[in-house]
Amino acid sequence: MAGPGSYLIGEEEKKALLEVIEAGYLFRYGDRSEPKFLAKVWQLEREVSKYLGIPHTVAVNSGTSALWVALGALGIGPGDEVIVPGYTFIASITSIIFARAIPVLAEVDESLTLDPEDVEKKITPRTKAIMLVHMLGNPGYIDEIKRIARKHSLYLIEDCAQAFGAKYHGKYVGSYGDFGTFSFNIFKTITSGDGGMVATGSKKLYERAFAIHDQGHLPLRQGVERGSRTVLGLDFRMTELSAAVLLAQLKKVERIKKLLREKKERFKSGIRDIEGLEFRKLPDHEGELCTLLTVFLPDEKVARKVGNALRSGVVADSGWHVYSNMEHLLGKKVVDSTGCPFSCPYYTEKGGKIEYSKGMLPRTDALLKRAINISIGVSDAGLGSSFGITIQSDDQEIDRKVEQFRKAVKKYL
Ligand SMILES: Cc1ncc(COP(=O)(O)O)c(C=O)c1O
Repeated sequence: MAGPGSYLIGEEEKKALLEVIEAGYLFRYGDRSEPKFLAKVWQLEREVSKYLGIPHTVAVNSGTSALWVALGALGIGPGDEVIVPGYTFIASITSIIFARAIPVLAEVDESLTLDPEDVEKKITPRTKAIMLVHMLGNPGYIDEIKRIARKHSLYLIEDCAQAFGAKYHGKYVGSYGDFGTFSFNIFKTITSGDGGMVATGSKKLYERAFAIHDQGHLPLRQGVERGSRTVLGLDFRMTELSAAVLLAQLKKVERIKKLLREKKERFKSGIRDIEGLEFRKLPDHEGELCTLLTVFLPDEKVARKVGNALRSGVVADSGWHVYSNMEHLLGKKVVDSTGCPFSCPYYTEKGGKIEYSKGMLPRTDALLKRAINISIGVSDAGLGSSFGITIQSDDQEIDRKVEQFRKAVKKYL
């Protein structure tokens, strides 16, 4: 059980992978005149740039690395605050902490993405960036958030890990912010098991991101670099094997999107008439990815009963996505004993002080307690979406699941 791309792994991925294995060269850099070197990572970066309409991309080994690289490229570090939703995968928050900056949690609204009003309330003189997460394939309020970022001279990072291929007002998500970041783990639109991508419109930011992803190198390690490296980096490189699989998966994105939309429409039409049931808000109905169908029941009691009957539970119970269940975040359990970045003088001397506690985002809590995620293409117990269908489900299976849902709701609503 996973994301849509994983269901379509087949001959194309096998062929692409074998091509690299037969060539016998698995590293992202090589001699272009050497036939063994197929430059799959480089090709993937070009293809993803073309697909998303974003001039520069750097392939990395995960969506978490992509976020960390983007934060570093923007120079975000000690003393800085980044506003991030309290409902997101934990990596959005931890990447900020590992950049030694401070995550400031903000509310989500019925779209389950950042509530622009609360974002504006959370801005302080220390705020450097807003991380907008297009959660569950649903593009957030990009126009409003971008307006706030501009007004307060803040960077905008779009965490598109769950939304590769989603659009907002006709353009792909990831193309609006200073950076868009993507994940290709098994739960995502397309997958190579693990993998990620950083995308930006700025050549300068691209060069910094490239250097940070690989020990300060210039793109493609061109030329002799001694003397021309501008920043230290680490190693978050993608291998030729992952890139080969992703090149094959990329050709399937439009098919995946079409299947998701058709199946979601059928499911939604089957339950649309249920009184008392509300659907998640979609800031761009045409652009959302349709990986999940989120419904709100009138109150927590009913939602829990229905969730239990469907064996999915309510969204509030997710341990990886809901801030109030992240005990290591609430306890600020960083890896060393200094307590930095929370106790870092760069932060405290600027007047910074942050606490995280259960109940700190009452609107988010109230919404998630009465929300149930129905899987359309992403099934993940951690996301609270173990009930639903997959992109391989036929009409009969969808109708069966619709009936099951209707029965459960009817019994308790
Ligand atoms: C919203 C969000 N951000 C970041 C990530 C991190 O991606 P990865 O698992 O590839 O590191 C994920 C992965 O689930 C995610 O859902």
